[in-house]
Amino acid sequence: MNSVKAFAPATVANVSCGFDILGFAIDAMGDQVEVRDRNQPGLVVVSIEGDEGRLPYEVEKNTCAVAIQAMLDELGKEVGLEIYLKKGLPLGSGMGSSAASAVAALVAANRLLGEPFEKKQLLPFAMQAEKVACGAGHADNVAPSLLGGFVLIRDYHPLDVIKLHVPEGLFCTLLHPHFELKTADSRSVLRDTVSLKHSTIQSGNVAGLVAGLFQEDFDLIGRSLRDVIAEPYRATLIPGFYEVKEAVKSAGALGMGISGSGPTLFALSKGKETVQTIIDAAQQVYDSIGLGVDAYHSAINTQGAFVIEEN
Ligand code: HSE
Repeated sequence: MNSVKAFAPATVANVSCGFDILGFAIDAMGDQVEVRDRNQPGLVVVSIEGDEGRLPYEVEKNTCAVAIQAMLDELGKEVGLEIYLKKGLPLGSGMGSSAASAVAALVAANRLLGEPFEKKQLLPFAMQAEKVACGAGHADNVAPSLLGGFVLIRDYHPLDVIKLHVPEGLFCTLLHPHFELKTADSRSVLRDTVSLKHSTIQSGNVAGLVAGLFQEDFDLIGRSLRDVIAEPYRATLIPGFYEVKEAVKSAGALGMGISGSGPTLFALSKGKETVQTIIDAAQQVYDSIGLGVDAYHSAINTQGAFVIEEN
């Protein structure tokens, strides 16, 4: 074997109440990375497609290369690898674009090297790539992209990642307005401290969401999509946020929040039936404020990243 191609899905991080600790993977789209053997040591990013020439090729800045280098450092191996990245996800969208690239690269490289690591063990390497991409090594995109499903990061020190139950029929609609928001910028508007009152509200909702997933209680899931820590500050960066929220909830969504650091919004629903109504309702709001939007809908992806092809 001298080349492996892998795919990693888009993700919704935070899921409203779980800032930096909750995320889930979606089926609709993702990134693809091929890693090939190279006949001299060192990593080279050979090609990047679908980014309109915007992503860096330097191995210290490219999230695929940073992640693979972190893995090689841990292995203490000096090998030569070429990286070919195909972006399926828009940059700065809040759908876990940098995470999907890093995760696909790791899954491909790990297979090419004979799987020295189990899937879960690749997480810290992907987190290093996130740190380079946005200044914070958060795991709520990389963990669900790698493992699939709904994931809780119970703790970062040491890393304790828990897969949650995904209720049958839980559906996600993503609304991607046509502008970019860098995660670093979207994090910079947040406050360093949280009041006791808000901490109580937030913990109640995280617990409610987890319980709702396990009990397959869709109303509880909807009620728990409440965020008093990040959303109030980030909503100011996202035109029409509260209007879209009201519209999609009236159209049958269980709830709505910011996907990761935005500007994409996610709405959860029970089954597919209400999806088109949700999209139409959101579209009306975006039309009224003159903002273009792409809408996607997807079941929750329970598989996570996988190898597509090896040669
Ligand atoms: N938890 C991260 C944040 C996700 O909200 O900044 C970034 O996609």
